[in-house]
Amino acid sequence: MTPGPRRIPLLVPDMPQADALLPYLRRIDSARWYTNFGPLVREFEAALSLALDPDKPPGVVSASSCTSGLELSLLALGLPAGARVLLPSLTFVATATAVLRAGCIPVAADVDPESWLLTPAIAREAQRDIAAVMPVATFGAPQDADAWDRFGAETGTPVVIDAAGAFGNQAVGSRSIVVMSLHATKSLGIGEGGFVAARDQAFLDEVRRLSNFGIRLPSGIVGAAGTNAKLSEYHAALGLAALARWPERARIRRELAARYRSMLDRFKAQRQRRPDEGVYTIMTVCLPDGVDALAVMSSLEAANIESRRWYHPLIPDHPGLRRTEVAGDLACARSLSGRILGLPFHTAMTEEDIERVCAALSREL
Ligand SMILES: Cc1ncc(COP(=O)(O)O)c(C=O)c1O
Repeated sequence: MTPGPRRIPLLVPDMPQADALLPYLRRIDSARWYTNFGPLVREFEAALSLALDPDKPPGVVSASSCTSGLELSLLALGLPAGARVLLPSLTFVATATAVLRAGCIPVAADVDPESWLLTPAIAREAQRDIAAVMPVATFGAPQDADAWDRFGAETGTPVVIDAAGAFGNQAVGSRSIVVMSLHATKSLGIGEGGFVAARDQAFLDEVRRLSNFGIRLPSGIVGAAGTNAKLSEYHAALGLAALARWPERARIRRELAARYRSMLDRFKAQRQRRPDEGVYTIMTVCLPDGVDALAVMSSLEAANIESRRWYHPLIPDHPGLRRTEVAGDLACARSLSGRILGLPFHTAMTEEDIERVCAALSREL
């Protein structure tokens, strides 16, 4: 029997290798400082800040994940229990779980049909007793930081951008808070981790305190109850090694995305509007109406190609998220959900792999 074609997985983490970590691990050995805001964590935060905006670096506080960073940000805003937080209905579940765990109520809004994002225009329409907005940089497509700054200035509503997968793409505006993920599958991956970036130092100080149980130093007194969401020195070592290779890895991701785009341009399938020069961790297409996504997935699987539906079901349709309220009819999100197919995208892919994926997809469309 002849072997089938090589499997093309959906995502393959691209983390720094052991040799690149050694110099940082030796520093940990000699300092004997393993966590609690040690020298590598501080250095990593400073390097992230410069990478985000070399001209006007924002403040950065690291966290154990993007989800904990989102939760801490809402807590640091001091929202009252049961406050309503507007978010897109088409997003990863963590956006909503963070809101619930911060004692707030998610209010799911529709998304823009082109960018698939919750925009300030949608938030303005949905506005009803909203204490904060949590727009998402969905699939790495950046939110318009200036537009959200204007929204914040006009309405007085705080904005926390869930930019989990948008490192390299998402700007930090003058008012809004940006939270990113450093999960292994992200373009800057350290296994588990995340960070909060903002320009309000008092806010960031509170996020840091809350990531350390809420302890105020030097008194040792807890003001607001926090959690343990600190990043260890070992994760910071990975982060510093990952940042050192970032320009090269970003270049590879840009090239792969350009290759995909040129092939997918031949299809009728709709795609998300997002900047071509972005650094992405996910490649999606929206299947035409009437095409059965599950049937496409199983045909790809038969060709040894992994794919996934993103994000299905919508946030309010998950049984565990049923406290979510809904703003409007969610028409665009409902039409997109179930039709968005994630295709293999990772730095181990070759041009031939991309051609194989696109050829297999074209047979289904
Ligand atoms: C939109 C969004 N928010 C939050 C998260 C959670 O990030 P983390 O795994 O770092 O908690 C993800 C993870 O992929 C995400 O896509």
